This record gives sequence, C-alpha cells and structure tokens, in this order.
Amino acid sequence: MARLSKYLLPLLGSFVLSQAAPAYDYLSHARSSSDALMHWYNQGTGVFNGTGWWNSAECITALADMQGLDSTSNFLDTLQNTFEINKNVWTTKSDFYDDEGWWALAWIKAYDLTKDQKYLNVAEQLFDDMAKGWTTNCNGGIWWDKDKTYVNSIANELFLSVAAHLASRTWNIKYLNWAVKEWQWFEKSGMITKNNTINDGLDGSCKNNGFTVWSYNQGVILGALVELSKASFDDSYLVTARDIAWAAIETLTDSNGVLHDSCEKGCGGDVSQFKGIFNRNLAQLYTATSDPGFKNFLETNAQSIWKNDRDSQNRLGLKWSGPYSKADASTHSSALMALIAAASVQGS
Ligand SMILES: *[C@@H]1O[C@H](CO)[C@@H](O)[C@H](O)[C@H]1NC(C)=O
Ligand SMILES: *[C@@H]1O[C@H](CO)[C@@H](O)[C@H](O)[C@H]1NC(C)=O
Repeated sequence: MARLSKYLLPLLGSFVLSQAAPAYDYLSHARSSSDALMHWYNQGTGVFNGTGWWNSAECITALADMQGLDSTSNFLDTLQNTFEINKNVWTTKSDFYDDEGWWALAWIKAYDLTKDQKYLNVAEQLFDDMAKGWTTNCNGGIWWDKDKTYVNSIANELFLSVAAHLASRTWNIKYLNWAVKEWQWFEKSGMITKNNTINDGLDGSCKNNGFTVWSYNQGVILGALVELSKASFDDSYLVTARDIAWAAIETLTDSNGVLHDSCEKGCGGDVSQFKGIFNRNLAQLYTATSDPGFKNFLETNAQSIWKNDRDSQNRLGLKWSGPYSKADASTHSSALMALIAAASVQGS
C-alpha cells in the first residue's frame, strides 16, 4: 500500500472528490431536510405540529419516500407510531374524501417499504370509504366531501390514484375496474381544459368552474396514470400524462423554471403543501418515460430550494424561488418532496 499509494491516492482522491461533491448533492440535501422535518413531529399524537391532518399524510409520505431512497434512514418507527396511534380513526377522522386519499397513498408507500399487510389493509379500507362518495350527480366521479357539496379534481384524482396503486398490489380486479371507470369519467368531466391544464372542480351544472389551476391537481394525476398504465399494461395513459405535465410546467413556472402556485404572497395552510406533490408525481412519470425535460425541471427546482429557500437549520419555506421567510411542517415537507424527487432521478 505504501508504495502504491503515491500513485493511487491522487487518482483516488480526485475520483472520490468528483463523486462525493457534485454541485448539488440532492440525496444529502434530502437527508438533512428529512431530519429537519422531525422538528415538528409530535410523538404523542403521531402527527406534525402546526399543520393539518392531511398535511401530516404528506409529511409521512415524504419520510416514507426518503426511507425508500436511503435504507439507512430511520423513519420506519415514525411510520409505525403514526399508524398505531391513529389506528381507530383512519376512515372517520375527516369529512373529506381527499384526506382519505392522501393517507391511503401514504400507507401504500409504507406497505411498499415494509410489505407489512396492515398498511395495505388500511389503504383498502380508505379506498372503500372513498368509493361510497361515488355520485351520479355529474354522471360519475366522487364528491369532495361527505356532506356532498362539491365535485372537484383532487378527490377524483386521488380516487383514481389509490385504485390504480391498489390494482397492481392486490391484483383484485375491482381496483382496476374502478380506476378505469374513474378515468373514463374524469377525462370527459370538463375539468381538463383543451390546454391540458386542470382546474379545481365543477360548478352546480357540472361544468368546469374555472377555479385556480393548482399545482397539485396537475401532479396527482401523473402518478395515477403511471400506475394505471402499469396495472393495465397500457402505455397510452403515459401520453396523456406527459401532455398534462408539460402544460403544467409551461403554465406554472417562472422564467427560471421554478414552480409557483398563484397565491404565494399569502397561501393558506393547504396550498403551502401543493407544489411538492407535483414534483413527487412528476418523478414517477420521469421514471416511466425518461423525458429529460422532466428531470431538468426537478433538478432546477431542487437547486433553487436549496439555494434560495432555506434557513440555517435546513428548514424550507413556501416560495421556492426565495427569499426564505418562514417555514412550517407544510412548507417544509412540500419542498422536501421536491428535494427527494430530484434525488430519486439523479444518475438515472
Ligand atoms: C407539539 O405541540 C405540543 C402541544 O402544544 C407540545 O407539547 C410539543 O412539545 C410540540 N412538539 C414539537 C416537536 O414541537
Ligand atoms: C388556453 O391557453 C390560451 C393561451 O394561453 C388561453 O388564452 C386560454 O384561455 C386557455 N384556455 C383555457 C380553457 O384554459
């Protein structure tokens, strides 16, 4: 070694340096920010302080994604804790079907990581409860809320996504049937414009209500269609997904390619969660399509967050282009999803 090292070490050194310190080490950024998210975790309630019930599903999803990306992470106990503490309320805690969809996707991810059947069972229970929201009011689709006041995009995209995810994990044909039925309705519901952007929902006469094109409504559908293409062995769903993804990138980014929702001067605690959901789902679409533009988008956004939207404790704020102002579990976990999304496509 002594003799060789003179020749080898400089080589090895430059190799290690160029490998270990790329300009943006998305994985290590995602790791630091995953740890920072635990700052808000309440061990006693199993949810995250200062944010809502569904936002905690996204925090849990982000930690589960991180665990999947880096098996040396330590989040399996957190997933288990949240799951057990709330084990009697999964289908009763919220009056909104979309909240059930977020948790179902979180537990499907936990099932993928652990293969522990209890997570999949709850996801199936949540799905069955969502299916009770199916309505013929607008010839199909599920209600947003158990009070039956609104038919919107997000609840229906999630219903599709959960069905499609369950289809390829249970191979129970009922899920594929539901996914196809939901998509056939959604596609013609009027919520997708001819520009391939998706508005918030339908009005009282079942027409597109023209409400805001939120980032998460352009996102959940992407992961849903990727899963549906897998479960049905039909790649044509990916063509539609690409059109929707590109329309969102064109519509919702600034001149530097950074994603925004329209309210960033004063978004409420729901909207502050949205953007990372788009990036998470776009990473799934990138994995299925290898469209280099998607990877570029994911990297641009992760870089901007790290550079412009972070404090000294690696907490991440609302506005990904910066400047950083403040963070809570919602803004943080949303941006964390974008860091994880970039890390998940790095080197692929
Ligand atoms: C969360 O809030 C509870 C109740 O206010 C408090 O006791 C706890 O210390 C907080 N935990 C964290 C991690 O902030
Ligand atoms: C489609 O895009 C065009 C051009 O940006 C815009 O004028 C039009 O309002 C959009 N249509 C819909 C239905 O969103």
